[in-house]
Amino acid sequence: MRSISWITLLGAIPTIKAQFVPAPTDLIEKKGYLDIPVRYKEVPTGICETDPNTKSFSGYVDVAEDQHLFFWFFEARNQNPETAPLTVWINGGPGSSSMIGLFQENGPCGVDSDGNVYSNPYSWNNASNMIYIDQPTQVGLSYSIPVPGYIDPSTGDLIVLPSNTCPDYAADLSCGTYPYGNASLTANSTANAAPYFYRALQGFMGAFPQYSRESFHFTTESYGGHYGPVFNEYIEEQNKCLQQGAKKISLESVLIGNGWYDPIVQYAAYYNFTVSPGNTYDYLPFNDSIASLLYNNLWGPGNCIDQLNDCAARGTDEICSIADNFCANHVENIYDIYLGRDEYDFRELTPDPFPYEFYVDYLNTPEVQAAIGAYVNFTEGSESVGNAFATTGDDGRIANTVEDLGKLLAQGVSVVMYTGDADYNCNWLGGQEVASMVDAPGYSNAGYVNITTDDGVVHGQVRQAGKFAFVRIYESGHEVPFYQPVVALSMFERVINGYDVATGKVKANSKYKTVGPAESTYREGNSTIQWDVVDPNATYNTTTNEPNPVARSMKRSAQHARRFKP
Ligand SMILES: *[C@@H]1O[C@H](CO)[C@@H](O)[C@H](O)[C@H]1NC(C)=O
Ligand SMILES: *[C@@H]1O[C@H](CO)[C@@H](O)[C@H](O)[C@H]1NC(C)=O
Ligand SMILES: *[C@@H]1O[C@H](CO)[C@@H](O)[C@H](O)[C@H]1NC(C)=O
Ligand SMILES: *[C@@H]1O[C@H](CO)[C@@H](O)[C@H](O)[C@H]1NC(C)=O
Ligand SMILES: *[C@@H]1O[C@H](CO)[C@@H](O)[C@H](O)[C@H]1NC(C)=O
Ligand SMILES: *[C@@H]1O[C@H](CO)[C@@H](O)[C@H](O)[C@H]1NC(C)=O
Ligand SMILES: *[C@@H]1O[C@H](CO)[C@@H](O)[C@H](O)[C@H]1NC(C)=O
Ligand SMILES: *[C@@H]1O[C@H](CO)[C@@H](O)[C@H](O)[C@H]1NC(C)=O
Ligand SMILES: *[C@@H]1O[C@H](CO)[C@@H](O)[C@H](O)[C@H]1NC(C)=O
Ligand SMILES: *[C@@H]1O[C@H](CO)[C@@H](O)[C@H](O)[C@H]1NC(C)=O
Repeated sequence: MRSISWITLLGAIPTIKAQFVPAPTDLIEKKGYLDIPVRYKEVPTGICETDPNTKSFSGYVDVAEDQHLFFWFFEARNQNPETAPLTVWINGGPGSSSMIGLFQENGPCGVDSDGNVYSNPYSWNNASNMIYIDQPTQVGLSYSIPVPGYIDPSTGDLIVLPSNTCPDYAADLSCGTYPYGNASLTANSTANAAPYFYRALQGFMGAFPQYSRESFHFTTESYGGHYGPVFNEYIEEQNKCLQQGAKKISLESVLIGNGWYDPIVQYAAYYNFTVSPGNTYDYLPFNDSIASLLYNNLWGPGNCIDQLNDCAARGTDEICSIADNFCANHVENIYDIYLGRDEYDFRELTPDPFPYEFYVDYLNTPEVQAAIGAYVNFTEGSESVGNAFATTGDDGRIANTVEDLGKLLAQGVSVVMYTGDADYNCNWLGGQEVASMVDAPGYSNAGYVNITTDDGVVHGQVRQAGKFAFVRIYESGHEVPFYQPVVALSMFERVINGYDVATGKVKANSKYKTVGPAESTYREGNSTIQWDVVDPNATYNTTTNEPNPVARSMKRSAQHARRFKP
């Protein structure tokens, strides 16, 4: 998706007035644990959550000077929220907003092509209180210092304006209020982002003790394969030596969808998914010459794998960032250059209208900005955060991800790695190999079994031993809860309640193990592969796993290219 956000920015309709966001004046101020300031408001019913019995709150945790992390909290539906579990969701990137998860995947609502909110019956707040956090600073609605500006469409960079006046040449671009893109006012690596994330939780939990029970669950996606293991091991370390005034956060489970954990395994997996052994959609897109180009760019002397090994051995920012750029441009990108398919869903060509982007404009309306207390215009992906992480080559580093997953398991935390099997970007073949590297007790001789759900359809398989599971979801792109909402909610609910992923009926204690074949061999075939670009207003059918037919002609639109693992 190489930047979903820019599609909308380029398509923004010029408005004459009110292009900037006035600072909200109605936020309630509280102190969280560790005396961290929290500013928030109750969000009215209909702004995303449509159920009048389910409250939601949004605002900012001031985690450092000029570092304000946005959160949006939703009470659990259909139960007492003061006894329901608490779960955080964060998206990846680095630089991707967690509003992606909220509006496109597992939040209480989505936004349709007419800009209207609709309720999501498979929202994860049907099972838990949910908090979505935009991090690090400058991502999504989080801000450093709000400044007037516009986004340069060719580079994605913020151009700061001298005042709240939109010059004519920028009027049809993206004038608005944006977080000042100073690299020292965000984080530049997973490890450096962890303390700020921890402070956001301490702030929220202190301001909302009624929702902050002992038990806590963490869910994420994509670059969250870096964030998840490292942030949570940071929480466990803090618990061991709790600062005065801090709350002990009893982490119970970590779920990571299509995670980016180990660059050496996962860059190689681009070859595995497209060439050998190939994906399960019976479509091998490359001829021999492209396949050998890709092979050489990976394993040729001095190329991607050699450079990543050098990064792992010597670890300087320069070596790791050069290595990661090489691999991104000469390995990952071959797919984009020759296929024009969506990296996040192999079945669709670009531009891919799924998951829907209409929520971006919704979040940029004055009504919604005021209702949620936003200080800045919304951007889906932060260029400045992506650039900051690029300076340390974090994407090209394994960054303790696999090791930390092992530590979390040893500390009694449930760890679930789930993967939509039509995703190329963080594909399931790489994820499966990373899962074996975690070396969870009993996992090596566990096998794959079908996952059962109430709809009677088999949406995937799981291989689980004790509290560790690797899950493959069929007919799903990168953002699993969008494509397979039924199994995504069942899996989430089962895991946070301590049950097995396969049935939700057996407690996943240390003796639990799935018995089945070592390989997951189901093949979808190529009937859901799209050979034409899909209409931008098309809807996705989660029964047929294809776009619903649209009786209109389609238009192609320009798309800015920037790499994110959302
Ligand atoms: C930023 O927000 C303002 C105020 O609501 C709005 O008028 C403007 O269109 C938004 N800009 C973008 C690029 O969405
Ligand atoms: C998509 O839907 C919007 C809102 O209904 C409409 O304005 C637009 O023309 C549609 N686009 C296409 C390509 O049909
Ligand atoms: C989730 O909660 C909503 C609102 O109460 C309800 O309409 C919906 O049926 C629930 N979904 C499931 C899968 O039970
Ligand atoms: C960036 O922020 C730091 C810390 O607040 C400050 O010292 C520095 O001057 C800022 N840089 C620019 C270019 O404004
Ligand atoms: C990926 O392909 C390489 C080269 O053919 C092979 O050595 C490796 O075993 C494959 N990995 C997987 C997970 O299939
Ligand atoms: C689609 O799958 C069929 C059956 O496996 C195969 O014969 C055909 O070559 C595939 N089509 C493409 C374009 O790969
Ligand atoms: C292989 O595919 C590439 C990209 O589509 C094309 O340019 C090239 O001509 C093809 N080579 C052969 C030998 O068919
Ligand atoms: C990354 O951030 C840390 C902490 O702010 C700083 O010490 C370091 O110099 C930064 N690295 C780069 C490459 O800018
Ligand atoms: C698992 O599901 C597949 C359909 O995906 C079905 O063909 C198979 O019989 C199921 N296996 C078991 C053991 O139920
Ligand atoms: C999905 O497709 C089926 C079969 O064509 C159709 O009956 C159903 O109405 C569609 N569902 C939605 C939500 O469009």
